[in-house]
Amino acid sequence: MIKEIKPISARTFRKMKENKEKITMLTAYDFSTAKYIDECGVDSILIGDSLGMTILGYDTTLNVTMEDMLIFTKAVSKGVKRAMIIADLPFLSYHISKEQTTLNAGKLIQAGAKAVKLEGASDFILEEVNHLTQSGINVVGHLGFTPQYINTIGGYLIQGKSYENTIKLLDAAKKLEDNGAFAIVLEMVPEESARYISENLSVPTIGIGAGKYCDGQVLVIDDILGKYPGNIPKFVKQYANIKEIMLNAISQYNAEVKNCQFPHKENSFNLTEEEKNKLGYAISK
Ligand code: KIV
Repeated sequence: MIKEIKPISARTFRKMKENKEKITMLTAYDFSTAKYIDECGVDSILIGDSLGMTILGYDTTLNVTMEDMLIFTKAVSKGVKRAMIIADLPFLSYHISKEQTTLNAGKLIQAGAKAVKLEGASDFILEEVNHLTQSGINVVGHLGFTPQYINTIGGYLIQGKSYENTIKLLDAAKKLEDNGAFAIVLEMVPEESARYISENLSVPTIGIGAGKYCDGQVLVIDDILGKYPGNIPKFVKQYANIKEIMLNAISQYNAEVKNCQFPHKENSFNLTEEEKNKLGYAISK
C-alpha cells in the first residue's frame, strides 16, 4: 500500500508550536540535495539567499537577484514531496513598491515555493507582509542579524544583547505576527533573548545561532555537510566533511585519467568483434 505523504503547511508549523514539537529546516539550492533533505523528514527547506555565497561565490547576499532565486527555487521544488518550501525574497526585490513585492513573491510561488521570507520589520516591510498575506502568499519574517542589512548593521554582529534590545526585537516580531507572518527566523540572538521572544509569540521562531529554546532550527546545508570553503560561524555544527570526500574523489579521478587507469573496460562501450576487425583492430583472444 502506498503511504500518503502529507505536505507540511503554515498550519502545520502553528500546530507543531502548540504541541511543542521542534520544527526542522535546512537550506537547499538544487534538486538532489532537496530530495535527500525531504527523504530524511526535515520539515522545511529554505532556498536562502545564502546561495549568493555557497553557490555563486559572492561575499554577501546583496548580489543575489530574482532571476537567481527563481532558478534555484524551481530546481528545489522538483525534489520535494513533503517539506514546506520557503524562498528568500532577495535584496531590493521587496523594497520599492507593494506591486513589485507582490509580483516578485508571486513569481517565487509559481516557481514552487509555498512561502517567501523577507528581512526586517520597518513600517514599510510590515505593510508588505500584510499585503502579501492578504494576497494569499505565506510570509516568514527574519529578525536579529539580517544579512541583507550587513552594511547598515556594520558587520556580523549578535543582536538583542540587552534587555532593551530584546524587548525591541520582541516588539518587531509581534508586529510581523500581527501583519500575518506565520513564522519568524531569529538569527544570532542570545539564547535567553530568543527564549523570551519565542515564549511571547504565537507563531513559531526558527533559530539560527539563537539557542535551543526556539521552536525550530535552521542551518545552511553546505555548513553542516562541511562543503563551504569560507568561514563557518560558531553556531554551526558540522555533521560531515564533504569537502574532504570531494577533494579525495576528484584527485583520484584526475590521477587515474592522467595515468590511463580510467576509463576501465566496464566503463566503455565496444564494437562487436566483426565490426572491430573491419576497423583494423585485432580480434581479442
Ligand atoms: O539565506 C539563508 O540561508 C538564510 C538562513 C541562514 C536563515 O536566511
